[in-house]
Amino acid sequence: MSELRAEGVARVLIDERSIQGRIGELAAELDARYGGEAPLMVGVLNGAVTFMTDLMRAMTIPVLIDFMAVSSYGASTQTSGVVRILKDLNEDIEGKRVLVVEDIVDSGLTLEYLLDVLRRRNPAEVCVVALLKKDKPSAVEVQVDQVGFTIPDEFVVGYGLDYAGKYRNLPYVAVLRPEAIQAG
Ligand code: IMP
Repeated sequence: MSELRAEGVARVLIDERSIQGRIGELAAELDARYGGEAPLMVGVLNGAVTFMTDLMRAMTIPVLIDFMAVSSYGASTQTSGVVRILKDLNEDIEGKRVLVVEDIVDSGLTLEYLLDVLRRRNPAEVCVVALLKKDKPSAVEVQVDQVGFTIPDEFVVGYGLDYAGKYRNLPYVAVLRPEAIQAG
C-alpha cells in the first residue's frame, strides 16, 4: 500500500470492482421494486455517503434523496449503544416510500433506533438497504431488506467507513493493522 490514504491498512476485504458489481445488482433489484415510482432515499451520514451516491447513479428510476446523521462511535471501534439524532430529515415522510441507505449494520442498534423514529412519522413504507452486514450472533434482530455483503465480525474501514474520521475515501473495504487502531 503506497498511497497515503491507505497507511495502516492490513488487507483489502472487498475490492472496488466487487463493490461496484454488487451495487449494480442491488440497483437493478431496486429499479424493479419501485417500478418507476421515485422512492425517498434516506442516507445515514457520514458513512453511507459513498454507497448512496454510487447506488443512486446505478439506478435508472427517478429518486428523491435526504439525509440523517446519528451519533457514531467517535474514536472507538465499539458501539456505545447510545444513539442520538445529530441531523434530521429536511422532508416530511408521511405517506412516502422510504428507502434507508446504510453503510454497515453491526450491533443493529443504530438502525433499530432509526427505524423506530421513521415509522412514527407514518411513511407508506420503510425498506432498508445496507452495503455491509456483520455476521454477529449478538446483534439485535432488525429489518434489513437488502445486504450487499455479509462480512466477518471485525472492524473495517473504507468506502465511506472511517476509523477516527480517516479512511472514508478508500475505494474498497479494508481491515486495519492493530497498530493503526491503537495509534488512532
Ligand atoms: P451498529 O449500531 O452497531 O449497527 O453500528 C452502526 C454504525 O456504526 C454504522 O452506521 C457505522 O457508522 C458504525 N460502524 C459499525 N461497524 C463499523 C466498522 O466496522 N467500521 C466503521 N464503522 C462501523
